[in-house]
Amino acid sequence: MTLPPTDADRLIADRRDLHEHPELGFQETRTAGIVAERLGTQGYDVRTEVGKTGVVADRGREGGRCVLVRADMDGLPVQEATDLPFKSRHPGRMHACGHDGHVAIGLEVARRLADAPLPGRVKLAFQPAEEINGGAAAMIEDGVLDAPTVNAAFGLHLWANLPTGKIAISEGPVMAAVDLFEIQIIGRGGHAGHPHQTIDPIVTAAQLTSALQTIVSRRRDPFEEGVVSVTHVRAGEAYNVVPDRAFLRGTVRSYGGRFYEEAPKLVERTARGICETFGARCEIDYRRLSGPVVNDGKMSAVMRAAAVAAVGSGGVVTGVRSMGGEDMAHFLSAVPGCFAFVGSAPADRPTSPHHSPTFDIDERALTIGADLLTATVLGYLSS
Ligand code: NI
Repeated sequence: MTLPPTDADRLIADRRDLHEHPELGFQETRTAGIVAERLGTQGYDVRTEVGKTGVVADRGREGGRCVLVRADMDGLPVQEATDLPFKSRHPGRMHACGHDGHVAIGLEVARRLADAPLPGRVKLAFQPAEEINGGAAAMIEDGVLDAPTVNAAFGLHLWANLPTGKIAISEGPVMAAVDLFEIQIIGRGGHAGHPHQTIDPIVTAAQLTSALQTIVSRRRDPFEEGVVSVTHVRAGEAYNVVPDRAFLRGTVRSYGGRFYEEAPKLVERTARGICETFGARCEIDYRRLSGPVVNDGKMSAVMRAAAVAAVGSGGVVTGVRSMGGEDMAHFLSAVPGCFAFVGSAPADRPTSPHHSPTFDIDERALTIGADLLTATVLGYLSS
């Protein structure tokens, strides 16, 4: 099948335009408008407001299998600190994770496949609100995987920890399950000079913060991946008053398995035990935000073949994994698929990490990403 060649200039122009106009989760109306307009004129069946601000477009032959390509659209509440000529025009908002590139890549995949005689159907899902963990579930709720029924799903993340020219594809879990916990410690307030008349929630919170770290170091099988981070502690105002409450918030990351199953119970027991030791009470809210991103074996092979076509066998690596979360997990727990990391670290300058105010991508990675997903769609539909 002959497709129009990948248009690097168009990819870069699209990415820069999106970069100038970042939008936060479930507010991606400008981005969604561009996507819907562009794909509509290319002959796709376009549905908007799928998962609030999400857009879905599909085309191809009836009756064949249907493959979904997912691109996330949202930016972050970060003040951009780059000197790029196309830096964010919106104070306090930035495409600091590369989702501008993901949308540009999705548009280019759509353009290249717009006139192709596909042996099945391709469905492009432009997803809102990945960063705040709600967009994928909202799209699935609104039927993105139905009519036509999706048989496989693929996606990618531009990756600053991997040099441009490399694509990482691994079977099994590649990104972590994200859990959130919030613990309210209820003590008894009083005079800082009379601590014996109080139940000090700050000392309790300090002990609990340390004790939560022992879940990973002492309670988890060392061969299982796991992280517990306390990221928010709040208590007290005055220097001479013991407050009556303290608040902790944090996250547990895992790759599924036993640690994932046991984590809620371990956090709760540790909190209750420590609080009881100090005579305090606690209220615990433990939530599962997204499961691990798990790549299917067969679908990884399909995507690996496409990756070899895009960057050669020397460019394809395995074993890149992250304890970050990705709500692509929702798609991959519903249908088999694969999520790849596409290297976007330039060789000639240092890279800033994802979510930092100086994050940037090597734009050559856009072409690689578009080639990868286009070849994955064709490879899957003709396999
Ligand atoms: Ni991201």
